[in-house]
Amino acid sequence: MSSYPFPAGFSWGVATSAQQIEGALREGGRGESIWDRFAATPGRIKDGSNAAVACDHYRRWREDLKLFQWLGVGAYRFSVAWPRVIPSGVGAINPPGLDFYDALVDALVEARIQPFVTLYHWDLPQTLEDRGGWSNRSTVDAFAEYAAAVVKRLGDRVHHWITHNEPWCIATLGYEEGHHAPGYRDPPEALRAAHHVMLSHGRAAEVIRADAPDPEVGIVLNLVPTYPASTDGVDRDAARWFDGFFNRWYLDPIFRAQYPDDAIADRVKRGHLQSSNLPFAKEGDLRTIATPLDFLGVNYYSRVVMRAGEDGSPTAVPMVPEGELTDMGWEVFPEGLYDLLVRLECEYKPPKIYITENGAAYTDPINAAGRVADTRRINYLRGHLAAAHRALADGVPLHGYFVWTLLDNFEWAHGYPKRFGLYDVDFTTQKRTPRDSAFWYHDVIAANAVDDETK
Ligand code: FCB
Repeated sequence: MSSYPFPAGFSWGVATSAQQIEGALREGGRGESIWDRFAATPGRIKDGSNAAVACDHYRRWREDLKLFQWLGVGAYRFSVAWPRVIPSGVGAINPPGLDFYDALVDALVEARIQPFVTLYHWDLPQTLEDRGGWSNRSTVDAFAEYAAAVVKRLGDRVHHWITHNEPWCIATLGYEEGHHAPGYRDPPEALRAAHHVMLSHGRAAEVIRADAPDPEVGIVLNLVPTYPASTDGVDRDAARWFDGFFNRWYLDPIFRAQYPDDAIADRVKRGHLQSSNLPFAKEGDLRTIATPLDFLGVNYYSRVVMRAGEDGSPTAVPMVPEGELTDMGWEVFPEGLYDLLVRLECEYKPPKIYITENGAAYTDPINAAGRVADTRRINYLRGHLAAAHRALADGVPLHGYFVWTLLDNFEWAHGYPKRFGLYDVDFTTQKRTPRDSAFWYHDVIAANAVDDETK
């Protein structure tokens, strides 16, 4: 058995998001979010559930903090719910909303757990959606105002700020494919929304740097390393297409102040843009979007393999049998994390990288002794940490790793059956039970090292 030590000062953490765990959607003056509305629309959430109670974390956060302390994490990534802070999206600040996060941050600091605050993890105030949501450029100003409210209150204690979580999901799942709130299927609007999300990232970065004494500013992208199914030119082109659509559409504006020409041409070909002129991009926008980052947050779950389909259109190829996928239907492919990190370092050179989410959905029973043998989750995490370690050894500036996630929770359009937690949650009693992966992660953190023993 080999052991892979991580550098001193490496941040070990866990990530969550407000809409998925807090519940208490009508308490403390919180306004409605687009996910409240979406979940109330029949047919949108697969198990017909909603986030009204979720993990009841709004009330139980002190108990949950003890779980973090037991795990030994040095960092906790959570998101602030915009509708708690500014219930109507713009205008009056709701002090009890900020009080909630203020108390949480105080308690984290006291427990020597660094808060990594995500400003936007998908819960847009519904009032803003009623005015066009991210398709409307004025949402950018509203976001900057909201960022200022949060930063003024928490900026003395919070040093790590994440503007957005996964702009691809916000734009493509929310506006192009309709799987997520607000649920549109309108590709041109999705491109407009994506641009406004990125612009609001740049604007919020300015606000954070102006209002917080000592901030590090980053954005979290979900990135999917893409491989061609063969060396054939048409398959390679299918992989190029997916990479442009998914990864480079966000990486290039943020790191190079430009959209990728080939991906623009693909969008024109599909009729999503009339020409290579981007109607939503105004003078100076790309400069704002490309404001230098202090760190890039990477959410990694799986890869994609692409080929040209019968009619030539890019098609994803399943690589392993159904039975070997996680409960999300995602292939376990740790090697992709290594490839992705090395690519980011070679092509985009972020000053620092954090893996801001990595984890797996598996369902395992609680046995008579009260244990949950989630061996598959442990193997998943171990494999990805070994890949991350290899990237570190090869010079990737990786500074931390956050498991997704602490607790089973409201997994967006899937509802509650997809269980990602280090802790099992019984949603009837709200009882949290540590899975074996929680014990395992505790040991990894204590040793600041991961071993390669596969169970
Ligand atoms: C990511 C989201 C997170 C969670 C995981 C499984 O895309 O950021 O909220 O849903 O996937």
